[in-house]
Amino acid sequence: ARPFIDYRDGQLMVEGVSAAELAREHGTPLFVYSKAAMLDALAAYQRGFAGREALICYAMKANSTLAVLRTFVEAGCGLDIVSGGELERALRAGVEPAKVIFSGVGKTRAEMKRALEAGIGCFNVESLPELDVLSEVAAGLGRRAPVSLRVNPDVDAKTHPYISTGLKGNKFGIAHTDALVAYQHAAALPGLKVTGIDCHIGSQITETSPYLDAMDRVLDLVDAIEASGITLEHIDFGGGLGINYHGETPPAADALWQLLLAKLDARGYGQRKLVIEPGRSLIGNAGICLTETVFLKPGEQKNFLIVDAAMNDLPRPAMYEAYHAIVPVQPRETETQTWDVVGPVCESGDWLGRERELAVQPGDLLAVCSAGAYCMSMSSNYNSRGRAAELLVDGDQARLVRARESIEDQLRLESM
Ligand code: LLP
Repeated sequence: ARPFIDYRDGQLMVEGVSAAELAREHGTPLFVYSKAAMLDALAAYQRGFAGREALICYAMKANSTLAVLRTFVEAGCGLDIVSGGELERALRAGVEPAKVIFSGVGKTRAEMKRALEAGIGCFNVESLPELDVLSEVAAGLGRRAPVSLRVNPDVDAKTHPYISTGLKGNKFGIAHTDALVAYQHAAALPGLKVTGIDCHIGSQITETSPYLDAMDRVLDLVDAIEASGITLEHIDFGGGLGINYHGETPPAADALWQLLLAKLDARGYGQRKLVIEPGRSLIGNAGICLTETVFLKPGEQKNFLIVDAAMNDLPRPAMYEAYHAIVPVQPRETETQTWDVVGPVCESGDWLGRERELAVQPGDLLAVCSAGAYCMSMSSNYNSRGRAAELLVDGDQARLVRARESIEDQLRLESM
């Protein structure tokens, strides 16, 4: 990817704006996103699908901030949602309801009803009981719900166990061996209209082969389902493509899809409408989190660099031992030392990076990299910390798209 977030004259810049100036003006911790980086990541998929009928439904769980949604919606994307809350955000962002797909294993009746009334494009259904309930809810409204069944291709995405979803032992999807019967069941229900098939094998996938295997497994099912007399209008291949956090080399979206499309063509499905649900690969490397060094605490065994961002802002290291690069906003010439970069939260798990070589002084600004996906959207108020502010940079303009959460915001729903 082209470096939209990089150094110029010894200063970290987000497009045309100095990160240090943004931190000075808006305080820290502060998420900053580059619009050009987002659109550049999207362009790789758009190039990959040139000349095909394809809908890119941004998986908004990765980052559901309205301005982020708006950026992708304006660029033509649909949205992949997983809750009633995400549906309301999606509608607020101005998405065409027909471009919304609803994933997730535990949709409630109320969520189904609201999504049907809004006129979403498809429900990705994950179990037989969900088919029955959805049919009932839709029939009650005098409608037929468009459905796709999420099948579990049982391939190993070779990623972290917490974010791998396509194996037999996962809670997600309908087992490959049960899929045909489930389709026949769905086709017979009065409130449903079967329109597609979908799968999603995991997240932060950095290899091509799990995708190729999954495509073969899904197309085997498409063959069988269509032979039984059910026509599938679209094939939804989920999301999951990884990004470079720490030297990983995932395939580029266009290169990956060149291979997948060749497979579709070879098996006679080249004209079928495609849907995908990428999240991380569209936004992950388009964002950073700026944080200020509060104290340096050198010790006998470890040196701790205490910053003002924490696990409530950036939960991925604590949850998955994930690696995020941490870089100085204005690098010093002085010698580096080895630091564990930690937050102020009262947990040993509150670390952002371990054994990092940095030359820092108290007050120095650092940038936690690759912080566009699954950071703000997974943030919390633990330790009564307010959520960080968010900025969207476009060229040399920075816009505050989410104000810093105040203590009043936090207390608003409570009483004694
Ligand atoms: N579609 C479905 C059905 C999903 O479950 C997910 C992610 C996506 C699409 C988007 O996947 P992506 O393209 O972003 O990999 N919190 C974890 C990641 C959890 C992913 C959950 N599902 C993390 O921080 O690594």
